[in-house]
Amino acid sequence: MTTSETAMTTWLRELPKAELHLHIEGTLEPELMFALADRNDVTLPYDSVEAVRAAYDFEDLPSFLNLYYQGMGVLHTQADFFDLAMAYFARAREDGVAHVELSFDPQAHLVRGVPLEAPFEGLLAACREAESRYGISSALIMSFLRDRDPAEALEVFERAAPWHSVVDAVGLDSAERDHPPGRFAKVFARARALGIPGVAHAGEEGPATYIREALETLDVCRVDHGVRCLEDADLVATLRERQIPLTVCPLSNVKLKVTPTLTEHPLPALREAGLNVTLNSDDPAYFGGGMLDNYVACHDAFGWTRDDFIDMTCNAVQAAFMAEERREALLERLA
Ligand code: HPA
Ligand code: ZN
Repeated sequence: MTTSETAMTTWLRELPKAELHLHIEGTLEPELMFALADRNDVTLPYDSVEAVRAAYDFEDLPSFLNLYYQGMGVLHTQADFFDLAMAYFARAREDGVAHVELSFDPQAHLVRGVPLEAPFEGLLAACREAESRYGISSALIMSFLRDRDPAEALEVFERAAPWHSVVDAVGLDSAERDHPPGRFAKVFARARALGIPGVAHAGEEGPATYIREALETLDVCRVDHGVRCLEDADLVATLRERQIPLTVCPLSNVKLKVTPTLTEHPLPALREAGLNVTLNSDDPAYFGGGMLDNYVACHDAFGWTRDDFIDMTCNAVQAAFMAEERREALLERLA
């Protein structure tokens, strides 16, 4: 806490928050990027940390993804993934995050010759360490890249069999335009048959129809982003009736120009429509802030009260992949 912090910021910091939409590769800060480049003999196309940060001026999702995939090129070993996640957990703890669901992109590492063991074992070790060091609980979401062949996703999922018991959900991310979710029905069905639920990015840059498709063909239990649902009144009614959680990422949406400014963000409209909204940071190293920054920015933009933030934080805890005991304990702290 800084001395200049407002009472509201301090209160938001202390609120035990649950982060459901976080790409762990998107938590890679330029300082660690340089340290890992050095460790692994990777040449970066930048001279300095400042030059990396200066490049984070995105036009849209694809322009961000180019830098995101380039940045993760420094991640090679289990230790790299461990260090990446521990650096994130330390910041999450400062932000008052109590529970984190880490998405990661195994295919983006496999194509670089990094075996599945490295992200799986590195991240799992970090999750255990975060629990004992900081009391932060976590879950692991194995995501598939929607702009690659669905057959490859299925093959990678089968190759990950040694870790199926520690995969809390499968996910779907990467470039959304022209990559509808239905193509991945097989791998999501296979995961479901093993008792592994699905989540999917939909309605970030893609149309509202992709959200409906994710619900109907992938049977997802949560939608990542989902902000474009407002373009389809019937879909809004379905999302409201089923209370499907939307993992909304306010600062991400501004950075990737999904919305021109935060004040124009559809978040208030989503809440007024009775939808199940949660707040998340997506790729905090690239989008200008972690969970607390997202909460504070929403307070500044929308004037939300403590009750509003408690409501959305409860939504996240209710929608989280966590042990029931842990859920009850967190909900008690939010009451
Ligand atoms: N959207 C889609 N795919 C992603 C993102 C995102 O914001 N971040 C990392 N992969
Ligand atoms: Zn995302």
